[in-house]
Amino acid sequence: MATKEIQAAGSTGLRGQITVPGDKSVSHRSVMFSGLCDTPVKITNFLRAQDCLSTVKCMQALGVKVEDRGDHLVVCGNGLHGLKEAEGIIDAGNSGTTLRLMLGILAGQKFLTTFTGDASLSRRPMGRVINPLSSMGARIVGRKNNSLLPITVVPQQDLLHGITYDMPMASAQVKSAVLLAGLYADRPTEVIEPYPSRDHTERMLRAFGADLDKSVNHIKIRPAKKLNAPECINVPGDVSSAAYFIVAASIIKGSDVLIKNVGINETRTGIIDVLRNMGADIEISNEHDVSGEPVADLHVRYAKLHGTEIKADIIPRLIDEIPVIAAAAVAAEGVTVISGAQELRVKESDRIKAICHEFGRLTDALTEKEDGLIIKGGSGFRIAKCDSCNDHRIAMSLAVAGAAGSGVFIDNADCVEISYPEFYSTLEMLEK
Ligand code: S3P
Repeated sequence: MATKEIQAAGSTGLRGQITVPGDKSVSHRSVMFSGLCDTPVKITNFLRAQDCLSTVKCMQALGVKVEDRGDHLVVCGNGLHGLKEAEGIIDAGNSGTTLRLMLGILAGQKFLTTFTGDASLSRRPMGRVINPLSSMGARIVGRKNNSLLPITVVPQQDLLHGITYDMPMASAQVKSAVLLAGLYADRPTEVIEPYPSRDHTERMLRAFGADLDKSVNHIKIRPAKKLNAPECINVPGDVSSAAYFIVAASIIKGSDVLIKNVGINETRTGIIDVLRNMGADIEISNEHDVSGEPVADLHVRYAKLHGTEIKADIIPRLIDEIPVIAAAAVAAEGVTVISGAQELRVKESDRIKAICHEFGRLTDALTEKEDGLIIKGGSGFRIAKCDSCNDHRIAMSLAVAGAAGSGVFIDNADCVEISYPEFYSTLEMLEK
């Protein structure tokens, strides 16, 4: 699929009930951490999308058995110290989470690993994990002064050293890499974040028996001899995938959509808080716990939105949702200002530039800032041909803008395979 046409929604808006696929962050971690145990783990609702399949292939290359049994995966590892040297170079594809978390796991291993990745991942900064891991004693080398792929982790003969790491940015990937390396260290490792980022690593490592203390943005982990997996992990629906339909239903007149089984971990629900602040009608019901993560159903109905201000403190709780929040802000009355979001420049694309440039074909509402966007809403979207910049979240956000406006043609649209292969068919189903 080179170019995808998205039709404008009809006068009845989006209507129906959907489920979204399994959470990407939780899916990655479920396979990685289960692969560090020595008992079989059943994983249900695992996200079968390219990013998580990169993690599966990576763990398989390191000697972990991962079997796809149709409605679930079974992961069978060889223990915390049981990973084996891969026979070739490992390809992390487009997945920053695969590469950064795996660097943390591999930093303390006695064998060599070399990683490569696609064009986008090869541009993304890896010094942010290599630097703290190096101060723990790891030897990791890469292009451009150890900051870019390809990257090699050199065999480690001694234990890593526990450190206290004051992170310069809020990043769950960096935090997770340091904590995972901390399992293989000689003393406790501490991580301090400027603002709390998603906490799936902490929750799952604790559930696996790791000795971990946590206050809001300060985590301490002690070295482990062994991790003990539960028999089964059930992955909640991904709130980042639900976000496209939460926004679409909020801004398309007549819409009424029920999204079942969505993870509502509060480190991820900034999108719901911001949209409610803008006047959205989002009802949360059926709250319950699934494998240590809070889950609920979200009922979203069209509402008149108004502009808002989004600042640094909430950014980590909605970092992946900013492209689709931009679509909501264009539809809303008044001005929305997004600040403190400079991390967007080092995602799968430079998302600030991609939003301004590609949404810029649909509307004149956007102005680029170094650390965010100013959006003068209320004028709607015209029809145009846009490019996804090979970034799944840009493609899906453009589709929402097209459905809310006058339609859109999206070039390089198949990058949705990275996180949400069924995205277009689900949108089309709700538009009928
Ligand atoms: C993720 C963390 C975030 C997020 C990414 C997934 C994770 O990245 O943008 O999609 O699973 O840990 P950063 O850690 O770079 O903020």
